[in-house]
Amino acid sequence: MFQKIAKSLACILVAFWASAAGAQQYPTKVITLIVPFAAGGPSDTIARILAQTMSNSLKQQIIIENVGGAGGTIGAARAAKSDPDGYTLFVHHIGHATAPALYKLSYDPITDFEPIGIINDGASTFVSRNDLAFKDFKEFLEYVKTNKDKVNMANAGVGSASHLCDLLFQEAVQTKVTLIPYKGTGPAMNDMLGGTVDIMCDQSTNTTPHIKAGKIKVYAVTLPKRLGSLPEVPTADEAGLPGFSMSVWHALYAPKGTPKPIIETLTKALQEALKDANLMQRYADLGAEAVPQERATPAALGAHLKSEIDRWGPIIKKAGVPVN
Ligand code: MLT
Repeated sequence: MFQKIAKSLACILVAFWASAAGAQQYPTKVITLIVPFAAGGPSDTIARILAQTMSNSLKQQIIIENVGGAGGTIGAARAAKSDPDGYTLFVHHIGHATAPALYKLSYDPITDFEPIGIINDGASTFVSRNDLAFKDFKEFLEYVKTNKDKVNMANAGVGSASHLCDLLFQEAVQTKVTLIPYKGTGPAMNDMLGGTVDIMCDQSTNTTPHIKAGKIKVYAVTLPKRLGSLPEVPTADEAGLPGFSMSVWHALYAPKGTPKPIIETLTKALQEALKDANLMQRYADLGAEAVPQERATPAALGAHLKSEIDRWGPIIKKAGVPVN
């Protein structure tokens, strides 16, 4: 209760400051961008490339703070409770929409945030450690089904994109394997490279460099069409799991109550960043696609977040995942 009153007072004070001091001067100091997963993973990669590019137009440094754990909900709670002054921002993926069905949250993904805009759409990939080199996705599926007691599948915790993919995968193959949660798939990938993790369904932004370096094996992508960056890799749908599809999107938020002029400045900076040829190429090389300008807006993100919450709630309920 006291926290809520204090937050409302902070919002009023910040709104007053914004009109009095002129939010057009924003930003005058370093901005912190909270990433709710460990460094080195997909969300971290998407956020770092974006932060570098937005820094150019905002003429201020944006530093990343990784607050991993509990499928992104620890970082989200931190962001929701931050001062709404434009100096703390937040990047999250599809997990922001699935969290309400999976956790008892201390925040509301809609009412505790100001949406700024969607950043990218992305694919996930089914991969294995190198010494489990299967001929193709069919052999991968066969191995999982016949070795379910010994296979381990790493993810970034309940509600992370990799965990959602694991749930869809287990349902599709009608087989449950041992799921190992990490604070992000950055550290999970380190263990896969070290040989202790068997398989993962992780975003191409994390897996592509290791696939291209020949350090892990890839079998299928989760989008309905192949990736330009990995054209030889079939879709899961064409390679053995008909109808299987999952897309991971990331978006940018600020804490609720961040003044409107600041949100407008940030939306403009986001849109400029997403038009930047270097950013677009770096995302595309990793199998991620910067969204068109009309999706990089508060209205588009607000509507998308709501529709994703409505879409995933029943799917998760049906999967019978216990609420954490
Ligand atoms: C996920 O599975 O949600 C992501 O891979 C998490 C991360 O960015 O590390």
